[in-house]
Amino acid sequence: MVRLPGWRGLETLKSPDVTLDGQPSGVGPDRAVAMIEVSGLRKSLRTGAATVEILRGIDFSVARGEFVAIMGASGSGKSTLLGLLAGLDNPTSGSVALNGMRISDLAEDRLALVRGKTIGFVFQSYQLIPTLTALENVLLPYELNDDRGGWRAGVERARTLLESVGLRERMDHYPVQLSGGEQQRVALARAFLLRPPIVLADEPTGNLDSANGAHVLELLLRLNREESTTLVLVTHDPALAAHAGRRITLSDGRVVSDETQGAALRQVSSSRSETRLGE
Ligand SMILES: Nc1ncnc2c1ncn2[C@@H]1O[C@H](COP(=O)(O)OP(=O)(O)OP(=O)(O)O)[C@@H](O)[C@H]1O
Ligand SMILES: [Mg+2]
Repeated sequence: MVRLPGWRGLETLKSPDVTLDGQPSGVGPDRAVAMIEVSGLRKSLRTGAATVEILRGIDFSVARGEFVAIMGASGSGKSTLLGLLAGLDNPTSGSVALNGMRISDLAEDRLALVRGKTIGFVFQSYQLIPTLTALENVLLPYELNDDRGGWRAGVERARTLLESVGLRERMDHYPVQLSGGEQQRVALARAFLLRPPIVLADEPTGNLDSANGAHVLELLLRLNREESTTLVLVTHDPALAAHAGRRITLSDGRVVSDETQGAALRQVSSSRSETRLGE
């Protein structure tokens, strides 16, 4: 794999048989646990007199520790689907359950709490806070989480994640001082900060050159394997999709293929640490 100047990559993390924080890692996606269950999901929007059907009945479930790539042409509904999975938007009908909990049944404040603890989200447009540095942006979920652990452990993990995406020299830069690809990597580091069981990412390598794309892929695979993070990524990137255990392809708001690939048999951790930062 190509190494960029200044890229300390994953050597900064511990040895392969421990997680980012030195927890022992295990093996195997846990098919007995559905982390995401999507059932009869529809989304339509009224624009003037017309109703646009964006999602036309989607059903699938994602096991704990799975790595799923969502693919499909521009406008096929990928970002809309991802937003519904995260509870950032409401379906017209159908439901999404995260770790057995139907998010459509939750009141807004409870939903925000569940979302904060369960999901790391990487927006297609990054959504970094312009007045915060890269490090502060990565620490944002930590600031917003009420039962967080020690601050020093949080900062240490944020630094480790930023180093692992090649941004050791950019931690104190503001978003405006970062390139698009650098902002994308900050957004990715942020999504993983609290070790959420699920990470949803919209085109996480969309703005990266092949070398940086490869580093991000390496990080994703490693977190998937070592922390059993369930990954659902929207991507057009064939290199990224090739490593996903499963590819779900949308066309015009419907699932037109759902393929499990050989790579699905890749071992992933089954003993994700329940330890929170600082514990
Ligand atoms: N607020 C909205 N009002 C009307 N139509 C919308 C709205 N949001 C999305 N759409 C339409 O829904 C369809 C799906 O949009 P979505 O953003 O989910 O596509 P996508 O698969 O993520 O595309 P891309 O690969 O370009 O990001 C598109 O045709 C889009 O124009
Ligand atoms: Mg999109």
